[in-house]
Amino acid sequence: MSDTNAYFVAVIGAGPSGLFGARELANQGAHVVIFNRDIKPGGLAEYGVYPDKHKMKEGFRKQFKQALTNPNLTYYGNLTVGAAGDLTLADLRALGFQAILVTVGAQGTKWVGLPGEDLVGVYHAKDLVYHYNKLPPFSQEKFRLGKRCAIIGAGNVMLDIAYFMIHEVKSEEVIAVVRRGPGEVNFTKEEMTRSIANLDMDAFETEMKRVLPALQAVNQNPEVGRHKVLDALPKAEPKTGNSRFRFEFLTSPIQMLGENSWLTKLEVEDNILIAKDGDLKARGTGHKRTLDVEAVIFAIGDKIDDSFGLPTNSSAFATNPSPRFPIEGISYEAYNPQADAPVPDIFVGGWARKASQGLVGVARKDGTNASKAVWQYLQTLQPTVPNLEAVNEKMKSLGKQIVTKEDIQKLDAIEAAEAQRRGLEEFKFATNEEMLQAIEMGPENWIGFF
Ligand SMILES: Cc1cc2nc3c(=O)[nH]c(=O)nc-3n(C[C@H](O)[C@H](O)[C@H](O)COP(=O)(O)OP(=O)(O)OC[C@H]3O[C@@H](n4cnc5c(N)ncnc54)[C@H](O)[C@@H]3O)c2cc1C
Ligand SMILES: NC(=O)c1ccc[n+]([C@@H]2O[C@H](COP(=O)([O-])OP(=O)(O)OC[C@H]3O[C@@H](n4cnc5c(N)ncnc54)[C@H](OP(=O)(O)O)[C@@H]3O)[C@@H](O)[C@H]2O)c1
Repeated sequence: MSDTNAYFVAVIGAGPSGLFGARELANQGAHVVIFNRDIKPGGLAEYGVYPDKHKMKEGFRKQFKQALTNPNLTYYGNLTVGAAGDLTLADLRALGFQAILVTVGAQGTKWVGLPGEDLVGVYHAKDLVYHYNKLPPFSQEKFRLGKRCAIIGAGNVMLDIAYFMIHEVKSEEVIAVVRRGPGEVNFTKEEMTRSIANLDMDAFETEMKRVLPALQAVNQNPEVGRHKVLDALPKAEPKTGNSRFRFEFLTSPIQMLGENSWLTKLEVEDNILIAKDGDLKARGTGHKRTLDVEAVIFAIGDKIDDSFGLPTNSSAFATNPSPRFPIEGISYEAYNPQADAPVPDIFVGGWARKASQGLVGVARKDGTNASKAVWQYLQTLQPTVPNLEAVNEKMKSLGKQIVTKEDIQKLDAIEAAEAQRRGLEEFKFATNEEMLQAIEMGPENWIGFF
């Protein structure tokens, strides 16, 4: 048992919000234990950011490793916290944690509830993104992506999936199905530069003509949308392969149709734009048509995992509408709407607080601010004597291999050696078994076992 008094905090999740939130608390002098589902830290910075963004990913990894060097910070990976997890929130309280910061991201799937969602060939972007970023168990899943695919949505995730379909799958046709118009797309010019060379310009002009009356009906200059899509052209990356990338604007999915459980068509409905509450909304016209596709991928954002065990509010965990410790006017306090009361010792940050919102830098700031709210709450309590041995004993009792900071260092060293041996920019084990076995062997005994 540690004999120094300190505030004792559990952080659940080691994505950017959890890691930077934990670092902030550890820098204040709290003892922080991070519990992470994945073996490796990083969350979507490791398993979401596109795999070929080596420099960016390496930059994030360095920052995460640096954060973990804080001696006030303990890391346990390869275990889940939650109502049906390896540890429950009640277990954490019983271990003496005075506050719990929940930064588990948005792990649930936002299905729309359309007929045919269970057909082979219909997926959610997160699963595919985890797959190509080698996150177990998604890394081992089979995806039937076919020759033609429709991606629902117009955010940066849609573009990541389009890039994957163009560059890796080498699809014949990649169709972005966008419920509003070209003026409302949500992706950035920088991301569009990666795939715009494959954009079918004739199809784009035809589509702009098709939707012109709907744009004019809400007094929207079509140049707004044209710029949003085409401003990436001057910095377009070279064309790869022959994939034809095109947009279907003002189009919503209605149902997926299949034969023998396999997707063959996507039925869509044309929309018009309606001005409402200062925004433009899509409204169906009743005119339906079908697209011949073998894959439909929903890139419409994610929601939190409802089974975690905290009250939810739409796609994220509910937060106290009258926060006791607001930071920059934002509430980071978990809340029970039924009891109309905060859950006093539990705080939420990052994508767990606001699902699918923003870049790594935004999550970092949100986690840091959440931990400032935690710190203010802790000032209402007396420091305790953190019982790290009891936590360690609990880890041993889980009957599975729990991963520590030192283990992560070993894994990093082995994966770096493997990358060098194979002449790759980066190497990642794709299963937990391989990662755990590599950790067991250690870098000194590692001889390229797999
Ligand atoms: C496809 C995609 C690409 C992206 N590309 C970029 C990009 O190029 N640049 C950029 O800046 N941003 C990018 N982002 C955004 C960025 O990844 C997020 O803003 C950020 O990762 C969110 O951080 P977070 O810590 O809130 O959640 P996450 O990163 O999701 O981290 C959640 C952590 O919680 C853990 N966890 C989950 N459930 C449990 C549980 N029950 N118990 C214990 N641990 C749990 C997970 O293992 C994970 O480590 C991308 C996002 C996506 C989806
Ligand atoms: N390279 C990068 O920097 C990068 C890469 C990936 C992700 N990210 C970040 O991660 C965050 C999440 O990205 P995201 O693309 O998932 O979210 P997003 O930017 O919010 O885009 C979601 C898209 O899905 C559409 N949509 C939502 N619900 C729908 C429905 N029921 N039917 C049809 N369409 C629907 C939205 O349309 P409406 O606008 O009409 O609602 C929107 O076009 C963003 O902050 C993004 O910038 C960054």
